[in-house]
Amino acid sequence: MRMYDIIEKKKTGGELTDEEIRWFINEYTDGNIPDYQVSALMMAVYFRSMTDRETATLTAAIAESGKMLDLSEFGELTADKHSTGGVGDKTTLIVAPLAASVGCKVAKISGRGLGHTGGTVDKLESFPGFNTSLTAEEFFNQVRNIGISVIGQSEGIAPADKKLYALRDVTATVNSIPLITSSIMGKKLAAGSKNIVLDVKYGSGGFMKTAEDAEVLATNMVEIGKRNGRRITALITNMDVPLGYNIGNSLEVIEAISVLRGEGPEDLRRICIELASAMCASTLSLDIKEARARVIESLQSGKALAKFKEWISAQGSDGEYTENADLFPKAAIAYDIKACNSGYISHMDAEMIGNAATILGAGRASKEDVIDHSAGIILKKKNGDYLNEGDVIMTLLTNDEGRISSAEKMATGAITFADKAPELMPLIHKIII
Ligand code: URA
Repeated sequence: MRMYDIIEKKKTGGELTDEEIRWFINEYTDGNIPDYQVSALMMAVYFRSMTDRETATLTAAIAESGKMLDLSEFGELTADKHSTGGVGDKTTLIVAPLAASVGCKVAKISGRGLGHTGGTVDKLESFPGFNTSLTAEEFFNQVRNIGISVIGQSEGIAPADKKLYALRDVTATVNSIPLITSSIMGKKLAAGSKNIVLDVKYGSGGFMKTAEDAEVLATNMVEIGKRNGRRITALITNMDVPLGYNIGNSLEVIEAISVLRGEGPEDLRRICIELASAMCASTLSLDIKEARARVIESLQSGKALAKFKEWISAQGSDGEYTENADLFPKAAIAYDIKACNSGYISHMDAEMIGNAATILGAGRASKEDVIDHSAGIILKKKNGDYLNEGDVIMTLLTNDEGRISSAEKMATGAITFADKAPELMPLIHKIII
């Protein structure tokens, strides 16, 4: 087989065979095809797209390019959840113990923060001593014993995606539906769970900016997951405004705990209930209403919070942190941003708010940066809220005074005021099964 012929075929609108797709993924992973030829193919796919059959094969080939987690000992009970990323998105911290407390086996690989979006691994490391690099034996034993285990991305999972994504990132070929689907779903297939719930976010802080684009991606991911033998549901949810009120690692952990206590912001609580219900419905073969009732019961009875404490303790931290938020170190500097005039917040650019939190120390500008777990933003108001001149819109938190000025500029630029209350986008746009 020749890479030249594969590029030529896709460039002229042809459909690649399974053999051609598997061959180029294997050879590229092994270092036998140069980047310039794979770049040319990525650009051809960008313009010519792929059929569902081609995307399903590409996804399976990416998954099989490295280690595949074998969760077969847990039968049909394994459940995973993936978010396309957002600002203030701490849903895994709530949904994972919630689903585990209802009976799912949550064996999960999570990522670190990227750009303006946070990552579950960084958030979990706000708990002193929390170990996100368990050995395989520790990881499996924890799933057997308490039904939940979350670790960081291992080098061996989907190495083809690592190479392809790095190439797409510098050749303007990231935003192609079959390439995004195969990248995300390739990693999910390798992570081994039978049941997958996707949270595909849309809006100013989301990877997809419109509900329509998010729907196209979600529909494709659901189809490709099914073709690869997984039970899969996608929720298309609002990321036009940050989720909840706290942005930044330990701040998000504290807000997640408040939801697990039966309190917390309504938007966050509702999305978590729907994500966990979708996981439980698929995994435990329940009607969605029955799944939702069990999830709500687990939240109200404290079972989900108890599972969270068990999980945090099992992975090496002190469970007391789940009961007393005052134990988390606080940032030394708290700086209020106040409204310069009265009116409604008609828009809050979530990506800019995420960037402001990164500037304060909550995220990384480069891979080597060290995160300040106590840094971030607490919003006091969101889209649709009315403010009088002088009211606090948000509080910036950091340990480095030198960061305040540029974070303030970024955060202030994110807010648009209007005289009239805006029409708010729905929190859950659609569910695709
Ligand atoms: N996230 C991924 O993991 N891959 C993509 O291609 C896009 C977003």
